[in-house]
Amino acid sequence: MKSSDLFATAKTLMPGGVSSPVRAIKPYPFYTAHASGSHLTTVDGSVFIDCCMAYGPLILGHAHPRIRKAIELQLESGWLYGTPSPLEPMFAKMITGDHKGMDMVRFVSSGSEATMAAIRLARGFTGKKDIVKIEGGFHGAHDAVLVKAGSGATTLGVPDSAGVLSDLVAHTRQVSYNDPEALEALLKVNTDIAALIIEPVLGNLGPILPKDNYLRDIREITRAHDVLLIFDEVITGYRLGIGGAQELYDIRPDLTTLGKIIGGGLPIGAFGGRREIMELVAPQGPVYQAGTFSGNPLSLTAGIATLEWLHEDPTLYRDLDEKTRILEESLDTVHTGSFIRLGSMFKWFFRNEPPKNYSEVKECDTVSFSRFWKRMQDNGIFLPPSQFETNFLSSAHSDQDLATLAQVYKKCLSE
Ligand SMILES: Cc1ncc(COP(=O)(O)O)c(C=O)c1O
Repeated sequence: MKSSDLFATAKTLMPGGVSSPVRAIKPYPFYTAHASGSHLTTVDGSVFIDCCMAYGPLILGHAHPRIRKAIELQLESGWLYGTPSPLEPMFAKMITGDHKGMDMVRFVSSGSEATMAAIRLARGFTGKKDIVKIEGGFHGAHDAVLVKAGSGATTLGVPDSAGVLSDLVAHTRQVSYNDPEALEALLKVNTDIAALIIEPVLGNLGPILPKDNYLRDIREITRAHDVLLIFDEVITGYRLGIGGAQELYDIRPDLTTLGKIIGGGLPIGAFGGRREIMELVAPQGPVYQAGTFSGNPLSLTAGIATLEWLHEDPTLYRDLDEKTRILEESLDTVHTGSFIRLGSMFKWFFRNEPPKNYSEVKECDTVSFSRFWKRMQDNGIFLPPSQFETNFLSSAHSDQDLATLAQVYKKCLSE
């Protein structure tokens, strides 16, 4: 069946025809038949160089042979036990070893679950009610954080969701990214704030990068006001380097949330942090958190294989960074917008000055973006279908892919 027919059927059976809103590309999304390395093949027979990479988890590319082998081996031993498995302490040791801000970790099944639990834990630890998030930051689709949320929510023009009680989001305060003074001012007048939750690099609007000392400033401000700092590293964890943004910028958050890459392409999430805080999580402490699929052997196996690979390849992150640098350089002569990159995260913004926060990124010309996006697709490149989503490269993107990308980007931006 063709993509158009599949979507016609799906729309009658599933809201918007999709399992997650950002996938509802107009007039219809392509349906993927299979994927390998840097490429997606559709049921219609088209082949795309993929720069969406499932929105971040696939740093080693699609269907990496070593990850597949690890999953296949695990399948022989079963894929869900409902009991602890030896994979859990093994994986916990790897993750806590890699993150200066994580003494202990709890595995969950998605990034949303991780941020939801981290916020509850911050409230449980501090006894305070409010949280602060960054305008345009996205932390999953649960009530407390669905306010001015980035990602698909901003793309579809619904950064706030119906069905979320206003009483509840009254406890979610917002400040602009890259504005430490705004945070300081808020924490001065509001003494009931449990935590600041922040994507250290705003992945769900771009990437948008922190100004020089911004992350250091917010670390000091939160500490001075007894407010916990939660780094949501669901995208940046193992993306910006082995130790994520906290290693790159040398910041020790109180709590960290992870997801995406640590599942090697299978569903996962994790939250962790300072021991004295994590010891409050049930059953050790009174902050309840639980899940049938938490720590499931398949996701852990895929995650362990991925992390092992990342540790073993000494040039992987440097090579990824070099790839986006080459791309940036090849677009030097295009002047219709701005390019932001960090490691393997990158984006072309339809705004002449690179945006620094939510209000600036919202000034981008989204009509031009949509036309550009379609031209890219017509030329065999699949980008996330939104001005407000990061593009990703993987270690599977070859020099040939890069040359094609540079040439097609240039052509489509110049048209
Ligand atoms: C920074 C960040 N936090 C949390 C989430 C939610 O993760 P999940 O989609 O696995 O629930 C996302 C998802 O894109 C994310 O980018």
